[in-house]
Amino acid sequence: MKQAKAKGNAIIVIGGKWGDEGKGKITSRFSKNADIVIRGTGGANAGHTIVYNGKKIALHLIPGGIMYPQTTCLIGQGVVIDPKILIEEIKALEEMGVPEVKKRLKITGRAHIVFPYHKDLDGLYESFKMDPVGTTKRGIGPTYMDQDTRSGIRLYELLQPVEELEQLIKVAITPHNQLFRANNMEGVMADAHKLAKEYHQYGELLRPMLERDPDGLTSRAYKEGKRVVVEGAQAFRLDKFVGDYPDVTSSNCITTGTLLGAHLSHKMVDKVIVVVKAHDSRVGNGPFPTELPAHIANDQVISYDEPYEGDIIRENAHEYGATTNRPRRVGFFDAVILATAKDILGADYLCINHMDTIGEIGKKLGSVKMCTSYTYQGKLIHHYPDDIRLTGEIPTPNYEEFYGGWTIPSTARSYDDIPETAKEYIKRIEEVTGIPVKYIGIGPDNEDIIERDV
Ligand code: IMP
Ligand code: MG
Repeated sequence: MKQAKAKGNAIIVIGGKWGDEGKGKITSRFSKNADIVIRGTGGANAGHTIVYNGKKIALHLIPGGIMYPQTTCLIGQGVVIDPKILIEEIKALEEMGVPEVKKRLKITGRAHIVFPYHKDLDGLYESFKMDPVGTTKRGIGPTYMDQDTRSGIRLYELLQPVEELEQLIKVAITPHNQLFRANNMEGVMADAHKLAKEYHQYGELLRPMLERDPDGLTSRAYKEGKRVVVEGAQAFRLDKFVGDYPDVTSSNCITTGTLLGAHLSHKMVDKVIVVVKAHDSRVGNGPFPTELPAHIANDQVISYDEPYEGDIIRENAHEYGATTNRPRRVGFFDAVILATAKDILGADYLCINHMDTIGEIGKKLGSVKMCTSYTYQGKLIHHYPDDIRLTGEIPTPNYEEFYGGWTIPSTARSYDDIPETAKEYIKRIEEVTGIPVKYIGIGPDNEDIIERDV
């Protein structure tokens, strides 16, 4: 019997912290020569901007690999689809001149559909909470919730005759409408008849892209040695199991969850690339040990005369959400989180973006810092503690200081082109995390990446 290859060809790109690490850029680099590019988790809470023929577009659902004409792109079973957004993205890509979008884009019928009532529920649940999560209000959590109660509607259900779809929506919205009524939100109560008509049409628009055999698609790719790239969404600390629950997203966005969402087995994996920035950021609420003070209140920048350290990092690194435009919380690089992430993510290599930016930040701050251990419960520790819920204590970072005032020209393409001071920073990240830094982002463009032999 002929065995399939022992090792797969898939490259998986996973966020190492709280998202917005620049996964899109490095994924794009791999997608350039890929056969298949897959999105495996999340929905329109994610977003990255891609540039095609000098025109910019923010993609929330379609893998950025669609830009490369040889790719087949799959929206996998772990993704929750807002069909209106997806249809707009398809249209926008076609208008930009991206070839054969509808032919190359595949959508599994198993993906669950985000309805307007999911977004209203997202806001309502947040309003109940004493400590809201700070979700993107894209209806992500409530859509996964309906999946769990077995009343979710998938693309397959959208394609049922409209009367049947209406019955399914009726069941799905019964508890939601009761909740809306009890909270004087009659105005947003869902109308199954109207929704069924509207969403069935969206289903029909998407039908040409329906992938009826997604597992077969990845299985064949594996056997034939095709190059597969999986574009992760969200990140390690936002995973609903291993992250800072409840301040997490509603999917399993670490490597294993992403693989499941992308119709892949562990055997199909070649490399796991974990992406981070040379500083850290977080949108939404929850613990962030290295967070620096900044002039932000209620998700907005408030006016200030003298910037705090956080303001300097935010403005230099343009830390505003691609999906919500919220100013992000920022801080110095936390290497301890990555040391904690290494094995559960199965990390092979690190990609560190914004190595140029942290140099500019270092010039303004006089130095940059890196968290290489925590003090927690009076002890020195080297991992992210799991029991902060019990202790009520956020670990205190212990910092090492770096000169930080380096300049990296965006023309640099070799590791030798990087100043020694920057190399020291990278070397320390490798020492503390145990993960080799293979990719270094040095500018905004897709090409602004140094690949290093490690
Ligand atoms: P949700 O995914 O909209 O439910 O939001 C849950 C938490 O995850 C919030 O803190 C969001 O800000 C965060 N989040 C979700 N998606 C992303 C992302 O793509 N980048 C960064 N943060 C995200
Ligand atoms: Mg993002």
